[in-house]
Amino acid sequence: MANQDDTFKKVIAHAKEYGYIFQSSEIYDGLSAVYDYGQNGAELKKNIRDYWWKSMVQMHQNIVGIDAAIFMHPTTWKASGHVDAFNDPLIDNKDSKKRYRADVLIEDYAEKLLQKAQKEITKAAKRFGDSFDEEQYKTTNPRVLGYLQKREDILARMGKSLGNEDLVDVKALIEELEIADPETGSKNWTDVRQFNLMFGTKLGASAETAMDLYLRPETAQGIFVNFLNVQKTGRMKIPFGIAQTGKAFRNEIVARQFIFRMREFEQMEMQFFVQPGEELKWYEYWKETRLKWHLSLGLGEENYRFHDHDKLAHYANAAADIEFNFPFGFKELEGIHSRTDFDLKAHEEHSGKKLKFFDPQRNESYVPYVVETSIGLDRMFLAVFSKALQEETLEDGSSRTVLKLPNILAPTKVAVFPLVKKDGLPEIAQQIVDDIKWDYTVLYDEKDAVGKRYRRQDAAGTPFCITVDHETLENQTVTLRERDTMKQKRIKISDLQSILSEELSIKKWLN
Ligand code: GAP
Repeated sequence: MANQDDTFKKVIAHAKEYGYIFQSSEIYDGLSAVYDYGQNGAELKKNIRDYWWKSMVQMHQNIVGIDAAIFMHPTTWKASGHVDAFNDPLIDNKDSKKRYRADVLIEDYAEKLLQKAQKEITKAAKRFGDSFDEEQYKTTNPRVLGYLQKREDILARMGKSLGNEDLVDVKALIEELEIADPETGSKNWTDVRQFNLMFGTKLGASAETAMDLYLRPETAQGIFVNFLNVQKTGRMKIPFGIAQTGKAFRNEIVARQFIFRMREFEQMEMQFFVQPGEELKWYEYWKETRLKWHLSLGLGEENYRFHDHDKLAHYANAAADIEFNFPFGFKELEGIHSRTDFDLKAHEEHSGKKLKFFDPQRNESYVPYVVETSIGLDRMFLAVFSKALQEETLEDGSSRTVLKLPNILAPTKVAVFPLVKKDGLPEIAQQIVDDIKWDYTVLYDEKDAVGKRYRRQDAAGTPFCITVDHETLENQTVTLRERDTMKQKRIKISDLQSILSEELSIKKWLN
Protein backbone atom coordinates (compact mmCIF):
# COMPACT_ATOMS: atom_id res chain seq x y z
CA MET A 1 0.00 0.00 0.00
CA ALA A 2 2.83 2.35 0.98
CA ASN A 3 4.32 1.56 -2.39
CA GLN A 4 1.17 2.59 -4.22
CA ASP A 5 1.01 5.78 -2.16
CA ASP A 6 4.61 6.60 -3.04
CA THR A 7 3.99 6.05 -6.74
CA PHE A 8 0.94 8.25 -6.62
CA LYS A 9 2.79 10.99 -4.74
CA LYS A 10 5.50 10.89 -7.41
CA VAL A 11 2.88 11.25 -10.14
CA ILE A 12 1.38 14.31 -8.45
CA ALA A 13 4.77 15.92 -7.81
CA HIS A 14 5.97 15.26 -11.36
CA ALA A 15 2.77 16.68 -12.83
CA LYS A 16 3.43 19.89 -10.97
CA GLU A 17 7.17 20.09 -11.58
CA TYR A 18 6.80 19.72 -15.35
CA GLY A 19 3.90 22.14 -15.85
CA TYR A 20 1.15 19.55 -16.25
CA ILE A 21 -1.20 20.10 -13.31
CA PHE A 22 -1.41 22.73 -10.57
CA GLN A 23 -3.73 22.98 -7.61
CA SER A 24 -6.39 25.57 -8.48
CA SER A 25 -5.88 28.98 -6.82
CA GLU A 26 -2.73 27.66 -5.22
CA ILE A 27 -1.60 31.09 -3.97
CA TYR A 28 -4.75 31.12 -1.82
CA ASP A 29 -3.96 27.61 -0.53
CA GLY A 30 -5.98 25.92 -3.25
CA LEU A 31 -9.55 24.80 -3.72
CA SER A 32 -10.35 21.25 -2.81
CA ALA A 33 -10.69 18.82 -5.72
CA VAL A 34 -10.29 21.55 -8.34
CA TYR A 35 -7.20 21.61 -10.54
CA ASP A 36 -5.66 23.73 -13.29
CA TYR A 37 -3.78 22.35 -16.26
CA GLY A 38 -0.45 24.02 -16.97
CA GLN A 39 1.36 24.59 -20.25
CA ASN A 40 2.12 20.90 -20.84
CA GLY A 41 -1.09 19.64 -19.23
CA ALA A 42 -3.27 21.76 -21.51
CA GLU A 43 -1.53 20.26 -24.55
CA LEU A 44 -1.76 16.67 -23.31
CA LYS A 45 -5.41 17.14 -22.43
CA LYS A 46 -6.14 18.63 -25.83
CA ASN A 47 -4.31 15.77 -27.56
CA ILE A 48 -6.34 13.16 -25.66
CA ARG A 49 -9.55 15.01 -26.53
CA ASP A 50 -8.51 15.21 -30.20
CA TYR A 51 -7.59 11.52 -30.25
CA TRP A 52 -11.02 10.66 -28.92
CA TRP A 53 -12.81 13.10 -31.27
CA LYS A 54 -10.91 11.85 -34.29
CA SER A 55 -11.77 8.22 -33.61
CA MET A 56 -15.34 8.70 -32.36
CA VAL A 57 -16.60 11.55 -34.56
CA GLN A 58 -14.44 12.14 -37.59
CA MET A 59 -13.74 8.49 -38.37
CA HIS A 60 -17.42 7.56 -38.18
CA GLN A 61 -19.71 8.61 -41.02
CA ASN A 62 -22.73 8.15 -38.78
CA ILE A 63 -21.52 10.07 -35.71
CA VAL A 64 -21.53 13.85 -35.42
CA GLY A 65 -20.27 16.13 -32.69
CA ILE A 66 -21.96 19.05 -30.94
CA ASP A 67 -21.05 21.60 -28.28
CA ALA A 68 -24.05 22.25 -26.03
CA ALA A 69 -24.17 24.87 -23.29
CA ILE A 70 -23.31 24.07 -19.69
CA PHE A 71 -26.45 25.86 -18.51
CA MET A 72 -29.62 24.00 -19.39
CA HIS A 73 -33.27 24.53 -18.64
CA PRO A 74 -33.82 23.30 -15.07
CA THR A 75 -36.57 20.90 -16.14
CA THR A 76 -33.87 18.94 -17.98
CA TRP A 77 -32.60 17.71 -14.64
CA LYS A 78 -36.03 16.86 -13.34
CA ALA A 79 -36.64 14.76 -16.47
CA SER A 80 -33.25 13.05 -16.33
CA GLY A 81 -33.80 12.03 -12.72
CA HIS A 82 -30.86 14.02 -11.38
CA VAL A 83 -32.97 16.25 -9.12
CA ASP A 84 -34.53 13.28 -7.36
CA ALA A 85 -31.89 10.60 -7.59
CA PHE A 86 -28.40 11.96 -8.26
CA ASN A 87 -27.34 11.29 -4.70
CA ASP A 88 -24.45 9.70 -2.89
CA PRO A 89 -24.82 8.08 0.53
CA LEU A 90 -22.69 10.04 2.96
CA ILE A 91 -21.60 9.30 6.49
CA ASP A 92 -19.74 11.48 8.99
CA ASN A 93 -17.34 10.42 11.64
CA LYS A 94 -18.44 12.07 14.87
CA ASP A 95 -14.95 12.23 16.34
CA SER A 96 -12.87 13.34 13.38
CA LYS A 97 -15.72 15.32 11.76
CA LYS A 98 -14.57 13.86 8.44
CA ARG A 99 -17.13 13.05 5.79
CA TYR A 100 -17.05 9.89 3.67
CA ARG A 101 -19.08 8.14 1.04
CA ALA A 102 -20.55 5.15 2.82
CA ASP A 103 -20.38 3.00 -0.33
CA VAL A 104 -16.71 3.87 -0.88
CA LEU A 105 -15.81 2.86 2.70
CA ILE A 106 -17.43 -0.51 2.07
CA GLU A 107 -15.88 -0.90 -1.39
CA ASP A 108 -12.43 -0.15 0.02
CA TYR A 109 -12.97 -2.84 2.64
CA ALA A 110 -13.97 -5.27 -0.12
CA GLU A 111 -10.92 -4.31 -2.19
CA LYS A 112 -8.69 -5.20 0.76
CA LEU A 113 -10.19 -8.70 0.81
CA LEU A 114 -9.34 -9.02 -2.86
CA GLN A 115 -5.78 -7.90 -2.15
CA LYS A 116 -5.51 -10.48 0.65
CA ALA A 117 -6.63 -13.23 -1.73
CA GLN A 118 -4.13 -11.98 -4.32
CA LYS A 119 -1.36 -12.04 -1.73
CA GLU A 120 -2.11 -15.68 -0.91
CA ILE A 121 -2.01 -16.53 -4.61
CA THR A 122 1.31 -14.74 -5.14
CA LYS A 123 2.80 -16.53 -2.11
CA ALA A 124 1.62 -19.91 -3.39
CA ALA A 125 2.93 -19.17 -6.89
CA LYS A 126 6.36 -18.58 -5.40
CA ARG A 127 6.15 -21.75 -3.31
CA PHE A 128 5.05 -24.05 -6.13
CA GLY A 129 7.11 -22.50 -8.91
CA ASP A 130 6.44 -23.67 -12.47
CA SER A 131 3.92 -26.31 -11.47
CA PHE A 132 1.56 -23.65 -10.04
CA ASP A 133 -1.96 -23.64 -11.48
CA GLU A 134 -3.47 -20.29 -10.47
CA GLU A 135 -7.00 -21.09 -11.58
CA GLN A 136 -7.07 -24.33 -9.60
CA TYR A 137 -5.63 -22.66 -6.50
CA LYS A 138 -8.17 -19.83 -6.70
CA THR A 139 -11.08 -22.25 -6.85
CA THR A 140 -9.90 -24.73 -4.19
CA ASN A 141 -7.78 -22.99 -1.56
CA PRO A 142 -10.12 -22.41 1.43
CA ARG A 143 -8.46 -19.17 2.54
CA VAL A 144 -8.62 -17.60 -0.93
CA LEU A 145 -12.18 -18.83 -1.41
CA GLY A 146 -13.13 -17.37 1.96
CA TYR A 147 -11.80 -13.92 1.13
CA LEU A 148 -13.45 -13.88 -2.29
CA GLN A 149 -16.79 -15.13 -1.00
CA LYS A 150 -16.84 -12.60 1.82
CA ARG A 151 -16.08 -9.82 -0.64
CA GLU A 152 -18.88 -10.93 -2.92
CA ASP A 153 -21.39 -11.13 -0.04
CA ILE A 154 -20.49 -7.66 1.20
CA LEU A 155 -20.82 -6.05 -2.22
CA ALA A 156 -24.09 -7.86 -2.91
CA ARG A 157 -25.58 -6.74 0.39
CA MET A 158 -24.47 -3.15 -0.15
CA GLY A 159 -25.88 -3.14 -3.68
CA LYS A 160 -29.20 -4.46 -2.42
CA SER A 161 -29.45 -1.98 0.45
CA LEU A 162 -28.55 1.00 -1.71
CA GLY A 163 -31.01 -0.15 -4.36
CA ASN A 164 -33.77 -0.35 -1.77
CA GLU A 165 -32.74 2.98 -0.23
CA ASP A 166 -32.16 1.05 2.99
CA LEU A 167 -29.56 3.39 4.46
CA VAL A 168 -30.01 1.90 7.94
CA ASP A 169 -28.63 -1.38 6.62
CA VAL A 170 -25.72 0.39 4.93
CA LYS A 171 -24.74 1.80 8.32
CA ALA A 172 -25.29 -1.60 9.95
CA LEU A 173 -22.91 -3.13 7.41
CA ILE A 174 -20.22 -0.55 8.19
CA GLU A 175 -20.60 -1.33 11.89
CA GLU A 176 -20.63 -5.09 11.42
CA LEU A 177 -17.44 -4.95 9.38
CA GLU A 178 -15.96 -2.66 12.03
CA ILE A 179 -14.90 -0.19 9.38
CA ALA A 180 -12.97 2.67 10.95
CA ASP A 181 -12.29 6.22 9.80
CA PRO A 182 -9.26 5.64 7.51
CA GLU A 183 -7.57 8.73 8.88
CA THR A 184 -8.16 8.41 12.63
CA GLY A 185 -9.33 4.86 13.32
CA SER A 186 -12.51 6.05 15.03
CA LYS A 187 -15.67 3.93 14.61
CA ASN A 188 -18.06 6.55 15.92
CA TRP A 189 -20.31 7.08 12.89
CA THR A 190 -23.44 9.14 12.20
CA ASP A 191 -26.38 7.68 10.28
CA VAL A 192 -26.04 7.41 6.50
CA ARG A 193 -27.81 10.19 4.53
CA GLN A 194 -28.37 10.96 0.87
CA PHE A 195 -26.64 14.02 -0.61
CA ASN A 196 -27.46 15.53 -4.03
CA LEU A 197 -24.34 16.14 -6.07
CA MET A 198 -25.56 18.93 -8.35
CA PHE A 199 -24.26 22.48 -7.93
CA GLY A 200 -27.02 25.08 -7.95
CA THR A 201 -26.73 28.61 -9.29
CA LYS A 202 -29.04 31.41 -10.44
CA LEU A 203 -29.77 32.98 -13.81
CA GLY A 204 -31.17 36.52 -13.91
CA ALA A 205 -30.52 39.98 -12.50
CA SER A 206 -33.07 40.43 -9.72
CA ALA A 207 -33.62 38.16 -6.76
CA GLU A 208 -37.37 37.85 -7.46
CA THR A 209 -37.13 36.85 -11.10
CA ALA A 210 -33.91 34.84 -10.98
CA MET A 211 -34.27 31.26 -12.11
CA ASP A 212 -32.68 28.39 -10.22
CA LEU A 213 -30.25 26.52 -12.43
CA TYR A 214 -27.82 23.67 -12.07
CA LEU A 215 -24.36 23.32 -13.50
CA ARG A 216 -24.65 20.22 -15.67
CA PRO A 217 -23.48 17.06 -13.88
CA GLU A 218 -23.04 15.21 -17.21
CA THR A 219 -22.80 16.31 -20.83
CA ALA A 220 -25.19 13.60 -22.02
CA GLN A 221 -28.38 15.60 -21.48
CA GLY A 222 -27.19 18.31 -23.88
CA ILE A 223 -27.18 15.57 -26.50
CA PHE A 224 -30.63 14.20 -25.63
CA VAL A 225 -32.36 17.60 -25.78
CA ASN A 226 -30.77 18.22 -29.18
CA PHE A 227 -31.56 14.77 -30.54
CA LEU A 228 -34.20 15.94 -33.00
CA ASN A 229 -32.33 19.12 -34.04
CA VAL A 230 -29.32 17.08 -35.04
CA GLN A 231 -31.27 14.20 -36.55
CA LYS A 232 -33.31 16.51 -38.77
CA THR A 233 -30.63 19.02 -39.80
CA GLY A 234 -28.02 16.30 -40.29
CA ARG A 235 -30.53 13.99 -42.03
CA MET A 236 -29.24 11.26 -39.75
CA LYS A 237 -30.54 7.73 -40.10
CA ILE A 238 -30.64 5.21 -37.33
CA PRO A 239 -28.23 3.89 -36.14
CA PHE A 240 -26.35 7.15 -35.56
CA GLY A 241 -24.46 8.86 -32.79
CA ILE A 242 -24.08 12.33 -31.29
CA ALA A 243 -20.91 13.09 -29.37
CA GLN A 244 -19.62 15.95 -27.31
CA THR A 245 -16.86 16.87 -24.94
CA GLY A 246 -17.18 19.43 -22.20
CA LYS A 247 -17.18 20.40 -18.56
CA ALA A 248 -19.37 18.73 -15.97
CA PHE A 249 -19.71 19.59 -12.29
CA ARG A 250 -20.39 17.42 -9.26
CA ASN A 251 -20.24 18.35 -5.62
CA GLU A 252 -18.36 15.16 -4.75
CA ILE A 253 -18.42 14.31 -1.06
CA VAL A 254 -15.01 12.74 -1.05
CA ALA A 255 -12.59 14.00 -3.62
CA ARG A 256 -9.13 13.08 -2.47
CA GLN A 257 -7.60 11.32 -5.43
CA PHE A 258 -6.07 14.18 -7.36
CA ILE A 259 -7.71 14.46 -10.79
CA PHE A 260 -9.42 11.07 -10.46
CA ARG A 261 -12.44 12.57 -8.71
CA MET A 262 -12.88 16.28 -9.20
CA ARG A 263 -15.67 18.76 -8.60
CA GLU A 264 -15.17 20.35 -12.02
CA PHE A 265 -14.11 17.91 -14.72
CA GLU A 266 -14.48 17.17 -18.38
CA GLN A 267 -16.37 14.35 -20.04
CA MET A 268 -16.21 12.88 -23.54
CA GLU A 269 -19.56 11.26 -24.24
CA MET A 270 -21.33 9.72 -27.18
CA GLN A 271 -24.96 8.66 -27.37
CA PHE A 272 -25.67 6.10 -30.07
CA PHE A 273 -29.33 5.95 -31.16
CA VAL A 274 -30.52 2.52 -32.30
CA GLN A 275 -33.67 0.57 -33.12
CA PRO A 276 -35.40 -0.81 -30.03
CA GLY A 277 -34.33 -4.43 -29.71
CA GLU A 278 -30.92 -3.85 -31.26
CA GLU A 279 -29.41 -2.12 -28.25
CA LEU A 280 -27.61 -5.12 -26.78
CA LYS A 281 -25.88 -5.85 -30.07
CA TRP A 282 -24.63 -2.26 -30.19
CA TYR A 283 -23.76 -2.33 -26.52
CA GLU A 284 -21.36 -5.24 -27.22
CA TYR A 285 -20.03 -3.41 -30.27
CA TRP A 286 -19.21 -0.29 -28.29
CA LYS A 287 -17.65 -2.21 -25.41
CA GLU A 288 -15.26 -3.82 -27.84
CA THR A 289 -14.64 -0.66 -29.88
CA ARG A 290 -13.87 1.45 -26.84
CA LEU A 291 -11.48 -1.13 -25.39
CA LYS A 292 -9.71 -1.21 -28.73
CA TRP A 293 -9.33 2.58 -28.59
CA HIS A 294 -7.67 2.30 -25.19
CA LEU A 295 -5.39 -0.49 -26.31
CA SER A 296 -4.29 1.53 -29.35
CA LEU A 297 -2.32 3.77 -26.99
CA GLY A 298 -0.07 0.92 -25.93
CA LEU A 299 -0.29 1.34 -22.18
CA GLY A 300 -0.51 -2.44 -21.68
CA GLU A 301 -3.45 -4.78 -22.10
CA GLU A 302 -3.01 -6.03 -18.53
CA ASN A 303 -3.94 -2.57 -17.22
CA TYR A 304 -7.56 -2.77 -18.40
CA ARG A 305 -10.46 -4.91 -17.34
CA PHE A 306 -14.22 -4.85 -17.76
CA HIS A 307 -16.46 -4.64 -14.76
CA ASP A 308 -19.98 -5.67 -15.75
CA HIS A 309 -22.59 -4.14 -13.45
CA ASP A 310 -24.76 -6.66 -11.61
CA LYS A 311 -27.00 -4.01 -10.26
CA LEU A 312 -28.32 -1.73 -12.98
CA ALA A 313 -29.67 1.80 -12.76
CA HIS A 314 -33.44 1.82 -13.30
CA TYR A 315 -33.05 3.13 -16.86
CA ALA A 316 -30.35 0.70 -18.01
CA ASN A 317 -30.60 -2.85 -19.31
CA ALA A 318 -26.84 -3.42 -19.45
CA ALA A 319 -23.84 -1.50 -18.16
CA ALA A 320 -20.11 -2.02 -17.82
CA ASP A 321 -17.07 -0.03 -16.80
CA ILE A 322 -13.69 -0.18 -18.41
CA GLU A 323 -11.45 -0.17 -15.36
CA PHE A 324 -7.83 0.93 -15.45
CA ASN A 325 -4.97 0.01 -13.18
CA PHE A 326 -4.37 3.43 -11.61
CA PRO A 327 -1.58 3.94 -9.03
CA PHE A 328 -4.20 3.13 -6.36
CA GLY A 329 -5.54 0.01 -8.09
CA PHE A 330 -8.19 -0.84 -10.69
CA LYS A 331 -10.90 1.84 -10.88
CA GLU A 332 -13.50 3.02 -13.37
CA LEU A 333 -12.14 4.91 -16.33
CA GLU A 334 -15.06 4.75 -18.75
CA GLY A 335 -18.67 3.63 -18.66
CA ILE A 336 -20.64 1.94 -21.44
CA HIS A 337 -24.36 1.94 -20.77
CA SER A 338 -27.38 0.65 -22.58
CA ARG A 339 -29.80 3.37 -21.44
CA THR A 340 -32.92 2.12 -23.25
CA ASP A 341 -35.36 4.89 -24.28
CA PHE A 342 -35.46 6.27 -20.75
CA ASP A 343 -33.94 9.72 -21.38
CA LEU A 344 -35.74 10.59 -24.62
CA LYS A 345 -39.07 9.39 -23.23
CA ALA A 346 -38.57 11.41 -20.05
CA HIS A 347 -37.81 14.53 -22.10
CA GLU A 348 -40.89 13.89 -24.23
CA GLU A 349 -43.02 13.75 -21.10
CA HIS A 350 -41.54 16.82 -19.45
CA SER A 351 -41.33 19.02 -22.57
CA GLY A 352 -44.52 17.88 -24.29
CA LYS A 353 -42.51 17.59 -27.56
CA LYS A 354 -42.24 14.44 -29.61
CA LEU A 355 -38.73 13.01 -29.80
CA LYS A 356 -39.36 10.21 -32.26
CA PHE A 357 -37.58 9.00 -35.34
CA PHE A 358 -39.52 8.02 -38.45
CA ASP A 359 -37.90 4.84 -39.71
CA PRO A 360 -38.58 4.50 -43.45
CA GLN A 361 -37.52 0.85 -43.43
CA ARG A 362 -39.96 -0.11 -40.72
CA ASN A 363 -42.46 2.53 -41.85
CA GLU A 364 -43.09 3.59 -38.27
CA SER A 365 -42.05 6.19 -35.72
CA TYR A 366 -40.39 5.22 -32.49
CA VAL A 367 -38.31 6.60 -29.66
CA PRO A 368 -34.84 5.20 -30.29
CA TYR A 369 -32.90 3.23 -27.71
CA VAL A 370 -29.52 4.58 -26.66
CA VAL A 371 -26.12 3.09 -26.03
CA GLU A 372 -23.80 5.53 -24.32
CA THR A 373 -20.03 5.64 -24.05
CA SER A 374 -18.83 8.05 -21.36
CA ILE A 375 -15.25 8.72 -20.36
CA GLY A 376 -13.74 11.34 -18.05
CA LEU A 377 -11.03 13.28 -19.86
CA ASP A 378 -9.19 14.05 -16.64
CA ARG A 379 -9.33 10.41 -15.61
CA MET A 380 -7.94 9.42 -18.98
CA PHE A 381 -5.20 11.99 -18.45
CA LEU A 382 -4.35 10.40 -15.11
CA ALA A 383 -4.34 6.92 -16.64
CA VAL A 384 -1.95 7.94 -19.40
CA PHE A 385 0.27 10.13 -17.25
CA SER A 386 0.63 7.72 -14.33
CA LYS A 387 1.48 4.74 -16.54
CA ALA A 388 3.91 6.81 -18.60
CA LEU A 389 5.94 8.00 -15.62
CA GLN A 390 8.83 5.60 -15.12
CA GLU A 391 12.04 5.48 -13.16
CA GLU A 392 14.71 3.56 -15.10
CA THR A 393 18.07 2.21 -14.09
CA LEU A 394 20.48 2.51 -16.98
CA GLU A 395 23.33 0.21 -17.97
CA ASP A 396 25.93 2.43 -16.29
CA GLY A 397 23.99 2.20 -13.00
CA SER A 398 22.62 5.75 -13.18
CA SER A 399 18.90 6.34 -13.24
CA ARG A 400 16.60 8.49 -15.32
CA THR A 401 13.03 9.70 -14.92
CA VAL A 402 11.18 9.31 -18.16
CA LEU A 403 7.63 10.12 -19.12
CA LYS A 404 6.86 7.57 -21.82
CA LEU A 405 3.70 9.22 -23.08
CA PRO A 406 2.25 7.69 -26.24
CA ASN A 407 4.00 9.80 -28.90
CA ILE A 408 0.73 10.82 -30.47
CA LEU A 409 -0.35 12.44 -27.17
CA ALA A 410 2.93 14.08 -26.12
CA PRO A 411 2.60 17.85 -25.57
CA THR A 412 5.89 18.60 -27.35
CA LYS A 413 6.74 16.23 -30.15
CA VAL A 414 10.22 17.43 -30.94
CA ALA A 415 12.96 19.37 -29.15
CA VAL A 416 15.76 20.87 -31.23
CA PHE A 417 19.18 21.64 -29.78
CA PRO A 418 22.30 23.25 -31.15
CA LEU A 419 25.23 21.35 -29.62
CA VAL A 420 26.89 24.67 -28.79
CA LYS A 421 25.69 28.26 -28.89
CA LYS A 422 28.07 29.34 -31.67
CA ASP A 423 29.48 28.51 -35.10
CA GLY A 424 26.09 29.02 -36.77
CA LEU A 425 24.54 25.95 -35.06
CA PRO A 426 21.73 27.91 -33.28
CA GLU A 427 20.66 29.39 -36.62
CA ILE A 428 20.36 25.97 -38.24
CA ALA A 429 18.47 24.62 -35.21
CA GLN A 430 16.11 27.59 -35.34
CA GLN A 431 15.52 26.98 -39.05
CA ILE A 432 14.56 23.36 -38.30
CA VAL A 433 12.12 24.61 -35.65
CA ASP A 434 10.59 27.02 -38.15
CA ASP A 435 10.23 24.26 -40.72
CA ILE A 436 8.54 21.68 -38.52
CA LYS A 437 6.41 23.93 -36.28
CA TRP A 438 3.69 23.89 -38.96
CA ASP A 439 3.00 20.26 -38.26
CA TYR A 440 4.27 19.50 -34.75
CA THR A 441 4.70 21.20 -31.42
CA VAL A 442 8.40 21.88 -31.23
CA LEU A 443 10.71 23.42 -28.67
CA TYR A 444 14.14 25.02 -28.97
CA ASP A 445 16.65 24.61 -26.13
CA GLU A 446 20.27 25.71 -26.02
CA LYS A 447 20.90 25.78 -22.24
CA ASP A 448 23.16 23.28 -20.41
CA ALA A 449 25.07 20.29 -21.70
CA VAL A 450 23.23 18.27 -24.32
CA GLY A 451 22.92 15.23 -22.01
CA LYS A 452 21.12 17.35 -19.47
CA ARG A 453 18.82 18.70 -22.17
CA TYR A 454 17.96 15.13 -23.20
CA ARG A 455 17.06 14.25 -19.61
CA ARG A 456 14.91 17.35 -19.30
CA GLN A 457 12.92 16.30 -22.36
CA ASP A 458 12.73 12.67 -21.16
CA ALA A 459 11.07 13.86 -17.97
CA ALA A 460 8.75 16.23 -19.85
CA GLY A 461 7.66 13.42 -22.19
CA THR A 462 9.09 14.70 -25.51
CA PRO A 463 9.51 11.69 -27.81
CA PHE A 464 12.16 13.09 -30.18
CA CYS A 465 15.21 15.30 -29.80
CA ILE A 466 17.24 16.63 -32.70
CA THR A 467 20.79 17.84 -32.19
CA VAL A 468 22.60 20.07 -34.63
CA ASP A 469 26.40 19.76 -34.41
CA HIS A 470 29.48 20.58 -36.46
CA GLU A 471 28.95 17.63 -38.77
CA THR A 472 25.65 19.27 -39.74
CA LEU A 473 27.65 22.10 -41.29
CA GLU A 474 29.47 19.62 -43.48
CA ASN A 475 26.77 17.23 -44.63
CA GLN A 476 23.32 18.59 -43.55
CA THR A 477 22.70 15.71 -41.15
CA VAL A 478 21.52 15.85 -37.54
CA THR A 479 21.21 13.39 -34.66
CA LEU A 480 17.72 12.12 -33.97
CA ARG A 481 17.35 10.69 -30.46
CA GLU A 482 14.38 8.64 -29.30
CA ARG A 483 13.09 9.13 -25.77
CA ASP A 484 12.12 5.54 -25.01
CA THR A 485 15.14 3.67 -26.38
CA MET A 486 17.61 6.57 -26.06
CA LYS A 487 18.90 5.37 -29.43
CA GLN A 488 20.50 7.97 -31.64
CA LYS A 489 20.79 7.92 -35.38
CA ARG A 490 22.25 10.23 -37.94
CA ILE A 491 19.71 11.42 -40.47
CA LYS A 492 19.50 13.98 -43.26
CA ILE A 493 17.64 17.19 -42.41
CA SER A 494 15.70 16.70 -45.62
CA ASP A 495 14.40 13.33 -44.31
CA LEU A 496 13.15 14.74 -41.00
CA GLN A 497 9.62 15.48 -42.14
CA SER A 498 9.01 12.02 -43.52
CA ILE A 499 10.49 10.27 -40.48
CA LEU A 500 8.40 12.33 -38.08
CA SER A 501 5.22 11.92 -40.07
CA GLU A 502 5.71 8.16 -40.05
CA GLU A 503 6.16 8.12 -36.26
CA LEU A 504 3.45 10.61 -35.42
CA SER A 505 0.66 9.85 -37.83
CA ILE A 506 -2.70 9.32 -36.17
CA LYS A 507 -3.46 6.69 -38.81
CA LYS A 508 -0.66 4.54 -37.50
CA TRP A 509 -1.92 4.85 -33.94
CA LEU A 510 -5.62 4.39 -34.50
CA ASN A 511 -5.30 1.60 -37.04
N1 GAP B 1 -23.50 10.19 -18.74
C1 GAP B 1 -23.10 9.11 -17.93
C2 GAP B 1 -22.24 9.49 -16.82
O1 GAP B 1 -22.01 10.66 -16.56
P1 GAP B 1 -20.73 8.49 -14.94
O2 GAP B 1 -20.31 7.08 -14.70
O3 GAP B 1 -21.35 9.23 -13.81
O4 GAP B 1 -21.73 8.42 -16.18
C3 GAP B 1 -18.85 8.93 -16.66
O5 GAP B 1 -19.50 9.30 -15.48
C4 GAP B 1 -17.35 9.11 -16.55
O6 GAP B 1 -17.05 10.44 -16.13
C5 GAP B 1 -16.71 8.21 -15.51
O7 GAP B 1 -16.40 6.94 -16.03
C6 GAP B 1 -15.45 9.00 -15.16
O8 GAP B 1 -14.42 8.73 -16.09
C7 GAP B 1 -15.89 10.44 -15.32
N2 GAP B 1 -16.19 11.06 -14.01
C8 GAP B 1 -17.33 10.94 -13.30
N3 GAP B 1 -17.26 11.66 -12.16
C9 GAP B 1 -16.05 12.26 -12.16
C10 GAP B 1 -15.37 13.13 -11.26
N4 GAP B 1 -15.94 13.57 -10.15
N5 GAP B 1 -14.11 13.54 -11.58
C11 GAP B 1 -13.52 13.11 -12.72
N6 GAP B 1 -14.11 12.30 -13.60
C12 GAP B 1 -15.36 11.87 -13.34
